[in-house]
Amino acid sequence: MAKVVVDSDYLKEIEKARRELRALISNKNCAPIMLRLAWHDAGTYDAKTKTGGPNGSIRNEEEYTHGANNGLKIAIDFCEQVKSKCPKITYADLYQLAGVVAVEVTGGPMINFTPGRKDSMISPKEGRLPDAKQGVPHLREVFYRMDLSDKDIVALSGGHTLGRGHPERSGFDGPWTADPLKFDNSYFQELLKVGSEGLLKLPTDEALLADPKFRLYVELYAKDEEAFFKDYAESHKKLSELGFTPG
Ligand code: HEM
Repeated sequence: MAKVVVDSDYLKEIEKARRELRALISNKNCAPIMLRLAWHDAGTYDAKTKTGGPNGSIRNEEEYTHGANNGLKIAIDFCEQVKSKCPKITYADLYQLAGVVAVEVTGGPMINFTPGRKDSMISPKEGRLPDAKQGVPHLREVFYRMDLSDKDIVALSGGHTLGRGHPERSGFDGPWTADPLKFDNSYFQELLKVGSEGLLKLPTDEALLADPKFRLYVELYAKDEEAFFKDYAESHKKLSELGFTPG
């Protein structure tokens, strides 16, 4: 049985925050940017030095002004609305809960959420998040640094089933799928199509086709949504718990 690491008041606060996040994300249609916030707070993790990771540090101006985080202040401010109603919850838990709820309310898998993350105000140096203009070796370098696997890389890239590129934020434009507010396996189906008119493919998305190990997962997830959901839920949980050992 899992050890109880937070008290019952804190668990109640988590459940309240979950309800608040569900309402906010549905009302504002902001699931994509909330998922991106959770990923960018967690995705700075460095397994060797045990620095970065899902610790709420992205709320620091020093960090949210990193180029890779352009636009994410919007999601930080949305989360602040929930924090003011649920003040006990740490930012680290709040951002990760927002990511989990964003996936659920758009029709994706349920992701098991364990609370108890601590907040940090120490931001890593700029440059730990992946650069969309690069290819296979860069993707591996960044995700292996977090101690994540090839399967995690492909499954988590499926997060691009939600949302779009905004030219003023990243220089990229447009959604990856026909319905950017629905979490499904269409990202992989579009990726395998030659010439998906008007849909976005980043160089790092294309890299998933170029590498034979990555490509096997792309093909599997394109034809088997259940397999995608199962692997995505596992990889997302891993991402959300980098450097965090409950209990
Ligand atoms: C958006 C890059 C992985 C979730 C974006 C954008 C870029 C990008 C350039 C456009 C930002 C904008 O203009 O608003 C990358 C790269 C990745 C990666 C290079 C390396 C594999 C992930 C992962 C997730 C994710 C692992 C989540 C599990 C999202 C979402 C959006 C997004 C949901 C849409 C945000 C919105 O519509 O506001 N990503 N990403 N990405 N990314 Fe990623």
